[in-house]
Amino acid sequence: MKIIDNIACLKEEIKKLQGSTGLIPTMGALHKGHLSLIKQSIKDNDNSIVSIFVNPIQFGINEDLDKYPRQLKKDCELCEKAGVSIVFAPKVQEIYKSDKNDLTLICPPITVLDKLCAKTRIGHFDGVCSIVAKLFNLTKANRAYFGQKDAQQLFIIKKMVEDLNFDIEIIPCPIVREEDGLALSSRNQYLSKDDRTLALNIQKALKTASGLAKQGINDKKTILDACLIILKDLEVDYVEFVDKNTFDITEDINKNTLLLIAAKTPQSKTRLIDNCLLYQ
Ligand code: PAF
Repeated sequence: MKIIDNIACLKEEIKKLQGSTGLIPTMGALHKGHLSLIKQSIKDNDNSIVSIFVNPIQFGINEDLDKYPRQLKKDCELCEKAGVSIVFAPKVQEIYKSDKNDLTLICPPITVLDKLCAKTRIGHFDGVCSIVAKLFNLTKANRAYFGQKDAQQLFIIKKMVEDLNFDIEIIPCPIVREEDGLALSSRNQYLSKDDRTLALNIQKALKTASGLAKQGINDKKTILDACLIILKDLEVDYVEFVDKNTFDITEDINKNTLLLIAAKTPQSKTRLIDNCLLYQ
C-alpha cells in the first residue's frame, strides 16, 4: 500500500494503475462504517484509494475542526489490512493554496440547501462538494463510496455528479451500527458515558417512527410527536421527513419517506445524525 501526501506523487501513481478504481473519501478516524465502504470498493474494483483529509472548508467557525480526531498511523494500518492500494493523506496547504474566500467552490442549489443540515451548517456542503470534486478529478476513480448515514450529503453529491457530468458512479452503502444501534461516526469518540446512553434515543425514535408507519399510522404529526418525546433529553436540530428521490420535505408517509434526525448531546454537544426509510 502506498501512502501519499502530495498531488504530484498521487498523479504519478494514478497513471500506473490498471483496471478500475474505487475512491473512499474520508476525514480519517476510521471505524467499521468506513471499513464497510472500503470492503465494498475492494470487491468492486481492481484498485481502492482511501483519502484521509480533515477538510477545513466544510467546518463552520464554531464547529469541531480543531478537535476532530486525527489518527493517521492507525488509519493507515487499518487500510493496509483491508487491502487498500493507496492512502492519500495530504496536508491542508497541499489541497488549498488560499483561504476559502479566494477559492473556486462548487455550490449546491438553494433547493437542497434550504433544509436539514444545510440550514444550520452554512457553507458546509460547498466545502464538501468542492473537496469531493477535487478528489474525483485527482484520483480519476470509476466509483466512489459514501455512507447512507450522511443522507443529505449523499443526495447532494449524486446531484453534483449528475448536474456536472462527472464520469463516476456513486455507490451508497448502508449505515453501520454498534450492537446497541448507535450509528457509527468518528464523532462518537466525543461522547461521555451519559451522552452515549442518550444518543441511543435517536435510533429508538427512528425505530418507533418506523413501527408506527408500519402499523398504518400515516399522520406526520403523530409520528413527529412520538419522536420528539423520545428525543426530549437531546438538543434536537431537526426531525424531518423527505422524499428519498427528490429530498423535498414531504407531508406524505409512504415507501419513499426518509425520516432524518439531527440532535446534539447535552454534555459534549456532539452533533449526531441518523436516518431510516420509514417502511424499511
Ligand atoms: O463524509 C465525510 O467524511 C466528508 O464529508 C467527506 C465526504 C470525506 C468530504 O470531506
